[in-house]
Amino acid sequence: MLPETFLNELKYNTDIEQVISRYVQLKRRGRNLTGLCPFHSEKSPSFTVYPETQSFYCFGCGAGGDAITFLRKIDNLDYMEAVRALAERAGMAVPEGTVDDGSRQRKARILELNRAAARHFHQNLMSNGGREARAYLVERGLTKATVVKFGIGFAPESWDNLRGHLREQGFTDEEMIAAALENPGKNGGCYDAFRNRIIFPIIDLRGGVIAFGGRNLGDKGPKYLNSGDTPVFKKSRNLFALNFAKATKRPELILCEGYMDVVSVHQGGFDNAVATLGTALTPEQAKLISNYTKTVVLSYDSDGPGQAATRRAISIFEDTGVKVRVLSIPNAKDPDEFLKKFGPQRFELLLEGSSGAVDFEIEKLRQRFDTDTTEGRYGFLQEFVRLMAGLGNHIQREVYISKICRELEVDKQAVTSQLEVALRKKRKGRERQEARELRPFTAHQTSAKTDMEKQKYPREVLAEERLIAYLIRSPDAWGWIKEQVAAEELVSQKDREIFQAVTSRLEAGYSADLMSLSGELSEENIARLSELLASPGSENISPREAEDYIRTLKNFHRQKTNAEIGSMEEEDFGKYIASIRAAKNK
Ligand code: UTP
Ligand code: MN
Repeated sequence: MLPETFLNELKYNTDIEQVISRYVQLKRRGRNLTGLCPFHSEKSPSFTVYPETQSFYCFGCGAGGDAITFLRKIDNLDYMEAVRALAERAGMAVPEGTVDDGSRQRKARILELNRAAARHFHQNLMSNGGREARAYLVERGLTKATVVKFGIGFAPESWDNLRGHLREQGFTDEEMIAAALENPGKNGGCYDAFRNRIIFPIIDLRGGVIAFGGRNLGDKGPKYLNSGDTPVFKKSRNLFALNFAKATKRPELILCEGYMDVVSVHQGGFDNAVATLGTALTPEQAKLISNYTKTVVLSYDSDGPGQAATRRAISIFEDTGVKVRVLSIPNAKDPDEFLKKFGPQRFELLLEGSSGAVDFEIEKLRQRFDTDTTEGRYGFLQEFVRLMAGLGNHIQREVYISKICRELEVDKQAVTSQLEVALRKKRKGRERQEARELRPFTAHQTSAKTDMEKQKYPREVLAEERLIAYLIRSPDAWGWIKEQVAAEELVSQKDREIFQAVTSRLEAGYSADLMSLSGELSEENIARLSELLASPGSENISPREAEDYIRTLKNFHRQKTNAEIGSMEEEDFGKYIASIRAAKNK
């Protein structure tokens, strides 16, 4: 654990408002600050920063904690990495030899290994042994400058080409396996994961080589191979070429399906293309994209799977606030092929003409239904109305309906009244769904169990929440509170854990602020603690009220009639007995 003196100094030097405002645009509101939550997509701010308790809490998604928790979440760091980042800002040295240096060193080591591997792959490509691979890339139309810019490389048909090189560099087999560059063999040892493949290094936003993708040159194994997750890489959170695209001056990002598409598009002069890494777009990637652009152009393959992926991506982007346009690529399978056949100017025209997500959907409907027949027209209009009902914007609906009705020569009034029905149905459905979702949504954060306890014992859970908030703000009160209440007397499991952590620090004469607690509380518990500190009224609890809360807890445990005891469930009865015992032992 970190020395108390160091933590105190770090606390003193850290201002949560400054830390968070580098990521979130904050507006002052009374004593606190609010902004759009960086941890979920929202249009109106429910993310709040509390300078007084040096905490944050989002009323929308339940994320909460101190500055360390914030950095951990937003930059995907572990505890020590976040502490180090804060210390660095404050110009403080982190005491060496503290625990958990391990994972940081481990990551640094794997990044180093990856870099050595990328260099080796690239050298392979450029050397004699890479002649055929180079010819392949030339045939695919890549220039040398592009190959160098992307650090493209080559893994020869060999089980130990990379392993041999990395061993010479002082890396262990175990490290190579951890980096997903070697696969463990059946009888011990390991063998190169990438063989006879063109290699695309995946670079993160800080310039680190975090993973690789490999295109098969032969016919053994899948066409593309992608690194699995490692300590430095999460497939679902990264995008190929975002390291370049993040600096683009163009107003949009182009999202492609594959490595080759991205590389060709960049070579064509469009420095704003990225791709997912062998999987479908994830919500995390969509959120990542939304940090860099207001508009994304989906540029997937023109085949069936590509179109299905387009539709899915549209729905994933729906609540990110990012505007979606769709590139339809005529007479070519994908952007790479299109560029090769028709050149960058034509691609630019495609890009300019790329239509909105709604046009894309309408176009799909047209292909599905033959609108020359009455039946086809009917089917088309049914689906069209459903599509319109899904739009949030009234004017947009009006424009499309007028256009389609004119085209199909149908009565606009009829379509509009169908739309009314669909909208009404949808509203009802949404209300029902919201009612259903409200519970699991909060439960997701506070855990189903706390939620149940809250519902069952609302008075008691509120009392203990308030008591904890009071203790955090008035730590001196621990002197008299400890005479009156023990952790076992709290009703909710989480509150007991939090109370325990808070009071054992106070008992040892330490402060019990969030930053000190974030080292020992789970992510869930620190979020819960921020939640109860953020709850209205918790900021000015008087000692009298605190006494009331203690009384509420006491009564809960003492005043049980025989009838009540008889009807208790087993678990509650166990708690009851334990609490009576705890009270007696005082
Ligand atoms: P495609 O099959 O469309 O390949 O896969 P491509 O991008 O056109 O590649 P070339 O032009 O034939 O070289 C698109 C993406 O799907 C993933 C890869 O990320 C690829 O870039 N993929 C494809 C895999 O992960 N594994 C595979 O076996 C195939
Ligand atoms: Mn292709």
